[in-house]
Amino acid sequence: MELTNKQYTTLRNLIYNNCGINLHKGKLPLLKNRLSKRLRATGIEDVNTYIKLLKNDNDEFVSFIDTISTNHTYFFRENRHCEFLLDNLDRSRPIKIWSAASSSGEEPFSIAFQLLNNNFTFKILASDISTAMLKLAARGIYHKKKFRLVPRDILKKYCMKGHDRWEGYIKIKKEVVSMISFKRLNLLTDPVPGVFDVIFCRNVMIYFDNPTKAMVVNKLASAIKPGGYLIIGASEGLVGIEHDLQYVEPSIYRKK
Ligand SMILES: C[S@@+](CC[C@H](N)C(=O)[O-])C[C@H]1O[C@@H](n2cnc3c(N)ncnc32)[C@H](O)[C@@H]1O
Repeated sequence: MELTNKQYTTLRNLIYNNCGINLHKGKLPLLKNRLSKRLRATGIEDVNTYIKLLKNDNDEFVSFIDTISTNHTYFFRENRHCEFLLDNLDRSRPIKIWSAASSSGEEPFSIAFQLLNNNFTFKILASDISTAMLKLAARGIYHKKKFRLVPRDILKKYCMKGHDRWEGYIKIKKEVVSMISFKRLNLLTDPVPGVFDVIFCRNVMIYFDNPTKAMVVNKLASAIKPGGYLIIGASEGLVGIEHDLQYVEPSIYRKK
């Protein structure tokens, strides 16, 4: 498949304007690879026809974004953030949490395991731009390799081992799954879905440039209750971004 510079730029702008992901020149091979998958899936042979479809068909746009987003995640990733919450949230009242780029669900499930285990009353909204990832998340079934960092007592209490054709897989119990609702939300274009005590937005802004990051951070801040927290990924600073949040410790910010 041939991809001209003009076509690459058109696709790059479409992606940037719609979901903030900034693909630089070095990502051309990746884009080409993912694009050829969508061409095969839709039976379209030429790139310009596919670009036209992308501009007019929201379902195809969602499928295309699904193929280009980076969804890597795992249970108990950067878990000191959860430990901070266990120490700092008020257990005497219900807590609302938003996992704003939840990918395949390991992040909201890790939070839910620990809040349940510590007798918090809470609800979690897990959202992502990728419908494919949200489907996986809502299923709550993962290969056992994914549970490497999950403490044994949590695994025993909240998960079940699969048998027969599910050998090697682990299913998360209903009592955990029922604490989470899943929803497709684009951080750039959708309104915030409520107000929260804590928002996790980890390892997604790394793909955004500073103006996009600033817009998203301020949007998220508007959805945090006074005294609540924004938690970002360990490798994502907010240096150079104007916002009203107070720095608490690396990657943890508090709304005044
Ligand atoms: C690397 S995963 C992060 C998962 C999890 N938060 C973690 O830290 O392990 C990044 C996720 O951000 C999602 N994403 C990318 N752009 C987005 C946008 N504009 N709105 C919502 N989610 C987006 C991707 O689909 C992907 O699932």
